Amino acid sequence: MKKRVLLSAIAAASLLAASPFSFAADDTFKIGLILPMTGQQASTGKQIAAAAHLYMAQNGSTVAGKKIELIIKDDAATPDVTKRLAQELIVNDKVNVIGGFGVTPAALAAAPIATQSKTPMVVMAAATSIITQASPYIVRTSFTLPQAAVAMGDWAPKNGIKKVVTLVSDYGPGIDAEKFFKERLIFNGGQVVEALRVPLRSPDFAPFLQKVRDLKPDALFVFVPSGAGAAVMKQFLERGMDKAGIKLIGTGDVTDDDQLNDMGDGALGVVTSHHYSASHNSATNKKFVAAFEAANKGMRPNFMAVGGYDGMRVIYEALKATKGKGTGDDLLAAMKGQIFESPRGPMFIDAQTRDVVQNIYIRKVEKVGGKLYNTEFDTLKDVKDPGKAK
Ligand code: PHB
Repeated sequence: MKKRVLLSAIAAASLLAASPFSFAADDTFKIGLILPMTGQQASTGKQIAAAAHLYMAQNGSTVAGKKIELIIKDDAATPDVTKRLAQELIVNDKVNVIGGFGVTPAALAAAPIATQSKTPMVVMAAATSIITQASPYIVRTSFTLPQAAVAMGDWAPKNGIKKVVTLVSDYGPGIDAEKFFKERLIFNGGQVVEALRVPLRSPDFAPFLQKVRDLKPDALFVFVPSGAGAAVMKQFLERGMDKAGIKLIGTGDVTDDDQLNDMGDGALGVVTSHHYSASHNSATNKKFVAAFEAANKGMRPNFMAVGGYDGMRVIYEALKATKGKGTGDDLLAAMKGQIFESPRGPMFIDAQTRDVVQNIYIRKVEKVGGKLYNTEFDTLKDVKDPGKAK
């Protein structure tokens, strides 16, 4: 959309006669999070909202003389709604920063609004490589699928897994996972015998899993978005795939900490690659997990929660660095290059790409204190998004 058309659309949508892009009143700093609080991706919204509230409870709601106001809007992971909410938050609520974005299509829908209004946009969940290129105002605190998938493409063939079927949700992150896993697997002497894609909405895994059984690979590599892992695990086990000698591997989205403990002992031994496990062994993480569980009736934080928690940190620190007086461009500049210890381990916002550089861990589902966890047993340090090199 041309800038002028977009601006007039925004102005028309606004009830305010004032300049569409003037920011919040001087004494407040508004953060507008757009999250899937309902629908198929609701667990992502619930985790990120809880993490944002925890961050504020721990770090105060006054920063650099400004009162922080957190506004959370539900887009149900529907891109048209995301776009409308981004416009409303910026034009009507005059937020200083937008954040959240549970799925890739939602992040891509909001990106042009961030660009037009020069509003920093902190992507806390969505993980397709391309997202950070959709707007120069995007900073990402989640991860990228190529980061995680490449690590599994290295690990699998070195551990006796040569013949693999891939099964991914048929949209951005799934296609990234499929592509980058396959490339690295082949490089390491393995092969993908079949690449299956399942619809994102209401997927039925059964016919796909039957096909996998017939193909008898060493392993099935899976990417499904956070919240869908338990369904895959259930059907994988019901069909006796594990008993047929087919291993389940994937990016850590499939053994998501939000659902893992309810997946049952059939999940034991599943190996995945990811940037966060609730059992990550560091003092910072132990403190984070204990505080998160205490504030949320025992709910365990997953990788989405960490993306939200670190996203809030990036916003708070940018506000401090700009002494509460920054424009959108100043805040964005102060977000770039931030380096800190996250509950996930060391992390860094690459100033050039505005994307996250972080460790990727290889983990195995184990029982610890009677509960299922992704136990990290190997670390790839400071992994940049491999998608950016293409
Ligand atoms: C995405 O849509 O980018 C996405 C959603 C959930 C995940 C990973 C990626 O677990």
